[in-house]
Amino acid sequence: MSGRHFLQIPGPTNVPDRVLRAIAQPTIDHRGPAFATLARGVLDGVREIFKTKGAAVIYPSSGTGAWEASLVNTLSPGDKALMFETGHFATLWRNMAVRLGLDVDFVPGDWRTGVDPEVVESKLRDDRGRAIKAVAVVHNETSTGVTSRIAAIRRAMDGAGHPALLLVDTISSLGSIDYRHDEWRVDVSIGCSQKGLMLPPGLGLNAISDKALAASTSARLPRAYWDWAPMIADNAAGFFPYTPATNLLYGLREAIAMLREEGLDRVFARHCRHAEAARRAVRGWGLELVCRNPDEYSSSLTAVMMPDVPGNADADAVRKAILERFDMSLGTGLGKLKGKIFRIGHLGDFNDLMLAGTLSGVEMGLADARVPFTPGGVLAALEYLSGRAPAARA
Ligand SMILES: Cc1ncc(COP(=O)(O)O)c(C=O)c1O
Repeated sequence: MSGRHFLQIPGPTNVPDRVLRAIAQPTIDHRGPAFATLARGVLDGVREIFKTKGAAVIYPSSGTGAWEASLVNTLSPGDKALMFETGHFATLWRNMAVRLGLDVDFVPGDWRTGVDPEVVESKLRDDRGRAIKAVAVVHNETSTGVTSRIAAIRRAMDGAGHPALLLVDTISSLGSIDYRHDEWRVDVSIGCSQKGLMLPPGLGLNAISDKALAASTSARLPRAYWDWAPMIADNAAGFFPYTPATNLLYGLREAIAMLREEGLDRVFARHCRHAEAARRAVRGWGLELVCRNPDEYSSSLTAVMMPDVPGNADADAVRKAILERFDMSLGTGLGKLKGKIFRIGHLGDFNDLMLAGTLSGVEMGLADARVPFTPGGVLAALEYLSGRAPAARA
């Protein structure tokens, strides 16, 4: 097909040409001085994006590896962890924790709402013996478009006066939605390259509090590749304990430069605005959002329910029609939402006209697949983007 493919899944996201060009530089000696400058620079940049003055590490891995690193560095076999069923990714992280030998209290959820801070507080208050060692939360549930409120969860933990570590998956929020590792006193934040950081897949990130570092000295889950200690020791001199993903780090340096040029607050405001426009389109179509609570709307993606009408095409048939006719990829429904929803990614390197094109493709695809809907959602989004509609929610 002519023209550019529209990659509107909620990650991997569109990689800016600047980043692609940066990645295309020759690979260098990862034990030489030029690499040390590169490594120190990107580690500083990553800390800035996590909003931490503490330690950060960058693994040559996907986000799943960074999840594993957060658990094996801080916990011991049989330790109790409090986790929440917010959706598919929270479920995968829980499954990993169980396979690693942790005792997980997995609070059931409806896949349409985020973590309830009151439940966090009451679970921790009830834990009089302080058996819970970690509370693990997915900040932005990429499978549902629901963003949990980390500041409120932190307050709930403080309210209960409980010493558990707070582990937060920021995989589809970092660089897209306001996130504050130090201010919210998160102990381990987990990120990766292929979402708001606008890179291809291949880098996994941890930001680490002093409390988490202290826990790592006595944590007994087996760890080798993911061990923070050799990573942090070698990083201090600008090196890695094994071969780093050199070319992705070139890309990361460029992506950090782009985020600095725009300014993180403006980046977050841009994501909020695009998300609001996307929700106006969905409402205009007469369709329902997966996210039930307006305080938990995601700025990086919008998940849309298919109308529950007998004989209606399932969400994957609509996605297939859109891919074949308009060369646009939308996110599929994951886990128990398979076939019931589709997800529109609007994060990373993105602008008004890309969103307008994306929403136009969805509207034409809904018509193509004969889904019962009200035409005109795109117009509602355009009115909002052009400033002719009432202002967005803060
Ligand atoms: C919130 C969240 N957590 C974890 C993951 C797993 O990351 P990866 O597929 O890079 O291993 C994803 C992937 O999309 C995600 O969206």
